[in-house]
Amino acid sequence: MKSTEVRNSFLQFFKSKGLPVLPSSSLIPHNDPTLLFTSAGMVQFKANFLGIDKSLKNAATCQKCVRTTDIDSVGFTERHLTFFEMLGNFSFGDYFKKEAIGWAWEYLTQVLKLDPAKLYVSIYKGGIAPRDEEAYNTWLQYVPKERIFELDEADNFWTMGPTGPCGPCTEIYYDFGDKGCKNPHCDITCNCGRFVEIWNVVFESYNRQEDGSLQPLPQNNIDTGMGLERLVMAMQSKRNIFETDLFTPLTDAAKEILHIEGHTPQEISALRIIADHVRSSSFLIAEGILPSNEGRGYILRRLIRRAARYAKLMGSQKPFLYTLAKKVSQIFDGLYPEIDKNLSHIEEVLKTEETLFFNTLQNGEEKLSALLAKKGQTLSGEEAFYLHETFGFPLELTREIAAAKGVKVDEDGYQKAKEAAAAKSRSYADEFSKEKVKEFQRLENALPATVFTGYDGLTQKARVLALLNQDFEEVQSLCGAGYAVFDSTSFYAESGGQVGDIGQVQKDGQTVAQVTDVQKPLGKVYLHQVNGSLHVGEEVMLAVDKATRLRTTANHSAIHLVNAALRQVFGNGVHQSGSFVSAQRLRFDYTLSKNPTEEEWKKVWQIVQEAIEAALPVRCQERPLKDAARLGAVTLLGETYADPARFVLMGGSFEEPEKKYSLELCGGTHVSNTAQVITVVLLKEGSLSAGVRRIEAVAGPAALDYLKRVNHEVEKMAARLTVPVPEVGPRLNQLLDEIREVKKDYSAFRERTLAAGGVAQMSFTMKNGATVVMQKAEGAQPRELRSIADTIGQKYEKALIIVVSDHEGKRSFVVKMAGKLENTDALQVAKQIAVSLNGRAGGRPDFAQGGGEAKKPWQEFLASAKEIL
Ligand code: ALA
Repeated sequence: MKSTEVRNSFLQFFKSKGLPVLPSSSLIPHNDPTLLFTSAGMVQFKANFLGIDKSLKNAATCQKCVRTTDIDSVGFTERHLTFFEMLGNFSFGDYFKKEAIGWAWEYLTQVLKLDPAKLYVSIYKGGIAPRDEEAYNTWLQYVPKERIFELDEADNFWTMGPTGPCGPCTEIYYDFGDKGCKNPHCDITCNCGRFVEIWNVVFESYNRQEDGSLQPLPQNNIDTGMGLERLVMAMQSKRNIFETDLFTPLTDAAKEILHIEGHTPQEISALRIIADHVRSSSFLIAEGILPSNEGRGYILRRLIRRAARYAKLMGSQKPFLYTLAKKVSQIFDGLYPEIDKNLSHIEEVLKTEETLFFNTLQNGEEKLSALLAKKGQTLSGEEAFYLHETFGFPLELTREIAAAKGVKVDEDGYQKAKEAAAAKSRSYADEFSKEKVKEFQRLENALPATVFTGYDGLTQKARVLALLNQDFEEVQSLCGAGYAVFDSTSFYAESGGQVGDIGQVQKDGQTVAQVTDVQKPLGKVYLHQVNGSLHVGEEVMLAVDKATRLRTTANHSAIHLVNAALRQVFGNGVHQSGSFVSAQRLRFDYTLSKNPTEEEWKKVWQIVQEAIEAALPVRCQERPLKDAARLGAVTLLGETYADPARFVLMGGSFEEPEKKYSLELCGGTHVSNTAQVITVVLLKEGSLSAGVRRIEAVAGPAALDYLKRVNHEVEKMAARLTVPVPEVGPRLNQLLDEIREVKKDYSAFRERTLAAGGVAQMSFTMKNGATVVMQKAEGAQPRELRSIADTIGQKYEKALIIVVSDHEGKRSFVVKMAGKLENTDALQVAKQIAVSLNGRAGGRPDFAQGGGEAKKPWQEFLASAKEIL
């Protein structure tokens, strides 16, 4: 049976049992900041399990999942993967153990016709919760006693994390046949690979608390998960998942490109790693994730680089993983439209990252050589890990190259550095303090969804439902800073890159609190950051600050205008990868791997300005999500949209979508006519990282303010330059040219004056044949005298050089001896000169300095100095 048929038969089977078949949710768990990726089928149903969301009784899905905790095992076992599909059926207080077990048995033995004699099961033997009698007794109807194993928490109690829904589980194992295991007690607990767990049925009856205690859930749930890849392995009688049709198109293509057979252990590992990592990377990229050095982007980078590195070990000389993305799309054959729709984007991102990796590998080799050149006998763990982190340089390779030079790598130190980095990436969830997330969760459960009315009006009558102080504790009255939840609100809560509104809370026409920000941390309940006096239960009027909202709105609409223009000029491969909109400015990140030419930029800004001047109507409408494809709406990669979704249309109409200028799914606020955007002023543009560029700009009234500020500055400048405004530029250029000339002249003059011994005020020869040069350095500061003396000294083999200057009413001088002069002592000379000035001197026989009064006329001073000598 083909994998596609296996998948379909599972969903069909549960559909026939009356369960709705729902689509896979995104790999990025929305509204759950504690998870990096969706790692199980139940993730999208967390609220259903907890009994908060009662809209569903049961469901069946095939969920795409990413788990990267075991990434280093992938390639070296027969079934470890980073991307997999989980077949699941779920009950939220509906059917329970009898049905879940009965249906599992029916599906495996009657639909798939797996040999019942090859199936084994395990149940929970008791410990932190009672032994699972019911599961045991139910299984007795289908399997003999000897094939029911009773295991403890480690195997048969499933938890989604340290806290949350959990419960005992029962697992079904498939016997893949003897693999030459030497263990006399080889059974399902042996890890020789003969018995493989294919299905896990969890009875989610508890909610694990922070302190580890189990609190019964308000309802009994079923959460099942069956790894599609393992099931297909059984159905296709393969001995490892990489030989199933879910992987062979990838491994075959890789074999051909790498010219390998795939027989040696190294080749087998490389092929598995390439196949798995290309699958996971393709799905992550399709969700809008880009390689980076943190969070999800970092995991993606590791996956691509790990695959590229194993390909390189197989002799690959240039990027090729990107050519395999097409195979991923063929394997899933339209099942995940995000892959087909974004294929060229996936290829582009893979190729860019592979190329980057090849380059860094080269730099890494150079860096490593440099480190080895100055090392003794060992390379420190930190250095080895630095090579790994910064250059993607694998430990195995470092070890190999170091060994060739007789250098050892401190591998313990490497492990320590690696663990420290892993701890850092685990703390991803700590960005949101645990306490806060818990409080958000509590509010989300306890309060109704805030009704948002702010698309149409900026004021809203509302009731205070809850108040929190700054420490996030619930209070009945608030006086000062804190947070407020209302039953409805006209305030936009930060989302989709647009900041939250600001404004006032009023009562009887008086402002009682300021609203400084609004957030909806888990999507349903709006938290207004307030400062003022409020009481739970009271009726108030909410008023959004109109000018600020209008500015934010114009900036947001400008992003849509720019996005559409970029797509017109550079094609639909342009994808938004991030954005930020406030009243002051906008930022737009998008994928583009080329450096646009000046011509192309001109075109982009011309398109934007023309759309503004055409005064196109902007229409926002809630429509069924499926309209997005038909109407050609731009959606964000990896974003999960509500259905119905909000469509923002600029130009044309929903009846004539082909006449549109732009259509995006977007929850932000927008102008009603593009003319309100007035203009978009570019502040900054450039490349952000490989394949991603950033535009920073300002539009609408904020752009006018910006232009006015600039204009004011220019006017001030014009006044200062005493020219009319249009001549500021030419005049400035002229001045800059003049300054450059003057600077040039000045430095030449300075050089001439200082270096030329010839302009000395006096020079004569002493009895011992040495020359005496006396130089007056007009205007020089005392600290400059020494270098002037040095410059002059370079011209003489033997000379006594005296440099003098008057500065701030004092006469300073230095005496320098160039070359060896018999019977001459610079310090003695300096002291005598100082006496003549009523001052002091100090130094060494070859160089001395001093100073005194600047009263004596210059000529007189020179004469007396000569006399001294
Ligand atoms: N949630 C269970 C698992 O992931 C079914 O194994």
